[in-house]
Amino acid sequence: MDDLRSAEWYSGTDRNAYIHRAWMRRGLPDDSFEGRKPQIAIANTASDLTPCNMHLNEVAESVKQGIWEAGGVPYNLPVVSLGETQVKPTAMLWRNMAAMAMEEMFRANPIDGIVLLGGCDKTIPALLMAAASVNLPAIVVPGGPMLTGNFRGMPLGCGTDVWRLSEEVRGGQLSQADFTRSEGSMIRSKGHCNTMGTASTMAVVAEALGMTIPGFAGTPAPDSRLLSMSQETGRLIVDMVAQDRRPSDVMTREAFLNAIVAVAVVGGSTNAVVHLLAIAGRLEIDLTLDDFDEAGRGVPLMVNLQPSGTFLMDDLYRAGGVLAALSQVVDLLHPAPITVTGRPLVEYLTDVPVYDADVILPRALPLMADAGIAVLRGNLAPNGAIIKPAAATPELLRHRGPAVVFDSIEDMRSRIDDPDLIVTADSVLVLRGCGPRGYPGMPEVGNMPLPRKLLEQGVRDMIRISDARMSGTAYGTVVLHVAPEAAAGGPLGLVRTGDFIELDVEARSLHLDVTDEELSARSVSSQTAAAYAAPARGWAKLYVEHVMQADVGADLDFLVGTSGDRVTRESH
Ligand code: FES
Repeated sequence: MDDLRSAEWYSGTDRNAYIHRAWMRRGLPDDSFEGRKPQIAIANTASDLTPCNMHLNEVAESVKQGIWEAGGVPYNLPVVSLGETQVKPTAMLWRNMAAMAMEEMFRANPIDGIVLLGGCDKTIPALLMAAASVNLPAIVVPGGPMLTGNFRGMPLGCGTDVWRLSEEVRGGQLSQADFTRSEGSMIRSKGHCNTMGTASTMAVVAEALGMTIPGFAGTPAPDSRLLSMSQETGRLIVDMVAQDRRPSDVMTREAFLNAIVAVAVVGGSTNAVVHLLAIAGRLEIDLTLDDFDEAGRGVPLMVNLQPSGTFLMDDLYRAGGVLAALSQVVDLLHPAPITVTGRPLVEYLTDVPVYDADVILPRALPLMADAGIAVLRGNLAPNGAIIKPAAATPELLRHRGPAVVFDSIEDMRSRIDDPDLIVTADSVLVLRGCGPRGYPGMPEVGNMPLPRKLLEQGVRDMIRISDARMSGTAYGTVVLHVAPEAAAGGPLGLVRTGDFIELDVEARSLHLDVTDEELSARSVSSQTAAAYAAPARGWAKLYVEHVMQADVGADLDFLVGTSGDRVTRESH
């Protein structure tokens, strides 16, 4: 095993090699450290407090089986896990912390390759960021979506239907009792959200980047094929170590462009933007916000899935899966990027059958002709902002209206339903103080609720603009990730209620109808400034001092780039 990285721990007859082997044996076969036996970590985000990833310990057992079969030695490595619905103040505050902790543990331990077990929103991004920085052979196992829940005979899309039903309660179309009754039906099985939310999107992204066994993403969590693919992944990682195939060989710039196309094809989450930028940053790949606009422009929406459409992840798998969806647009993909198998992704996209053309649409009849995430610029977002046209109301994609400004989510919540709030369906709701630094952590609140009095009038969408993110399961005409954010001195902090704002998605512009002279004469209100008080200690302090803006991925400035896999010092 002398040419393996782990040989630095286990090879030889000196005291240190003795210590490393002796403490690790504990029932392992005697030859575990002899010959060429790759030591493989299974980076496992299973946690009882990450409900979407609870089942990953079972998945890890199948991965282990495959690693043993192929001649490797598997180790379960529990890593920081983030339950999107559970952790406060927002899971995004902890993505970089999770990635940093994973990176350090991958570097610190005697391993030659890593299997990355993720699922819930931030877990696959954090795993990929860490794997990219360490650049040891790695494969993603996407934990899979849950099965479709039903309430009174109707399917429930988790996330999307929570937003819809709660707005119906506020608008008086659904009783509170029925809303509460639906709760027990929302989560039918193990697995992550069953809409094309962030978790499903990041599984598709991992596959489009080449980081899963092709055909794996979207396999439902309870499906026995998830376990067989996991076992196959265990076999493959051993081979990847032998081939020395690393994340930097797979995740090239062209692979990122393919992932951007894939996000549009499936109507994926806007959160893919900050995650892809952050992963690319770890690999020092020159990927910019403008690449999302350029690579996504003209890409059709080929799947009819919530939140952009009707069906759910289980339906996508039944209809042929992610490969069948991507096979509709193979002409839009770069042919060169390879997958973890060593073969190009496009080789897996020929003759993939579609079993339900209502779910995976024919190329000639897409759900939407141009579904790429649009990048907006203007005096309100000098460094860019994004909007997902597939989730928006077409009539609102070009609009001019007066701003109604909120300084924080607390301010918004306290006033949004005020009967005296001066707001009409033409108003533009502006929320600030919710960017990476301002909140801190850039929460998913950009799809702020509509004013109750407008809901009662039947209004179902309005333009909303913020420096926040929104849930991948959400919908609406929502401008997100405004950069720089208000707390970083962006012009969003200078908007006043009553200012007119012009949105023109076709022209890619977001304009505040206030002169430069007037804007430069304005200063941030004391209420706004107070909302951005810097944390005094701990991770949040480190985060606020070093987090970059959304237009470059909201990673920490000192985590960009690779650390590599070598650790030269040894304390024993
Ligand atoms: Fe975990 Fe939606 S809450 S994927």
